Amino acid sequence: MTVRIAVIGAGIMGADHARIIAGDLPGAVLQVVCDASPERARMVAEECGARDIATDPLATIARSDVDAVLIASPDETHAALTLAAIRAGKPVLCEKPLAPNSADCLRVIEAEMRAGRPFVQVGFMRRFDPSYAEMKALLDDGTLGRAVLMHNFHRNVSAPANFTGLMAITNSAPHEFDVARFVLDTDYTSISAFQPAGVDASRAGAPVFMVLETAGGQLVNIEVNNTAAYGYDVRGELVGEKGSVFLNAPVHARINVGLKSLERYAPDWRPRFAEAYRLQNKAWLRFVETGMPWPVAANAWDGYRATLTAEAGVKALSNGARAVIERAERPAFYRH
Ligand SMILES: NC(=O)c1ccc[n+]([C@@H]2O[C@H](COP(=O)([O-])OP(=O)(O)OC[C@H]3O[C@@H](n4cnc5c(N)ncnc54)[C@H](O)[C@@H]3O)[C@@H](O)[C@H]2O)c1
Repeated sequence: MTVRIAVIGAGIMGADHARIIAGDLPGAVLQVVCDASPERARMVAEECGARDIATDPLATIARSDVDAVLIASPDETHAALTLAAIRAGKPVLCEKPLAPNSADCLRVIEAEMRAGRPFVQVGFMRRFDPSYAEMKALLDDGTLGRAVLMHNFHRNVSAPANFTGLMAITNSAPHEFDVARFVLDTDYTSISAFQPAGVDASRAGAPVFMVLETAGGQLVNIEVNNTAAYGYDVRGELVGEKGSVFLNAPVHARINVGLKSLERYAPDWRPRFAEAYRLQNKAWLRFVETGMPWPVAANAWDGYRATLTAEAGVKALSNGARAVIERAERPAFYRH
């Protein structure tokens, strides 16, 4: 059976997902590209050979010729559209964050549990990135010994036009909140957040530095700098008692010129995580086909924990004090 997918939101990420579905996802067809802007929907649909375009996301989710929904519209639309897909009985790949506030994440969790089967995968694609996967495998097989620290850097050339200062914590850092929690297989107990002296916290892209404590006793630090100017640069190191692992970004060429040896940085995140997006979307298609969530994939509970951590991070930054992150038992429904 071919799975007919609607992509909702055809901006930078939605267009990327549409290209993967159309060109690299055997078993799926790009049925509808839906965007609030009909021009944007048409442009992406024409490029990818989608069967139809639309501008109303709720009507798109309800269509009888749509089997599954990929949500890549802005953060504040995610929860309502995910809830609509659950109501329609259609599996969803929802871009991160699941919702910008934890109360909306809980609404999604309640609806999914009430529906009695999993419908939601959250777009924390770094779980599928080969460099993080190797880091996790080396921790899990004992090579590194007990994990003690994880360092994370997340740098963008410039902040997107719609960014606010706090989106460093609510929109960018959730990637690190999720992947560090995934690699370490733990939950956070607290977060502290800092900014360099003289930085205007409301300025989009203003750097933020966070330190999290985990239930497993590790420290996780995260630098988010969305005005790094020089290139898209994600780095990470996991430090264990017997060794450490650095993430390597895929580098396809080294340039030797003018007495220098250079590697290029990409202008945004897509090349760095291209393989992760592809593997994520393939895993989601298997989930749609079988009803069985892919073991590595982030579910709605993971989405909730990332948003809860972001909320505590915002509180920590505004109060200038360490914020406790409420512990909660993962419901049996999400232990897969
Ligand atoms: N996983 C990742 O690495 C990653 C990277 C970037 C962005 N994202 C997430 O992807 C989502 C989209 O980000 P983007 O950078 O593509 O943004 P974007 O602004 O480029 O695109 C958003 C698109 O959604 C459309 N839109 C707005 N409201 C809509 C609605 N109600 N229904 C249908 N379409 C609507 C807009 O017209 C626009 O074309 C965000 O939630 C963002 O956090 C994830």
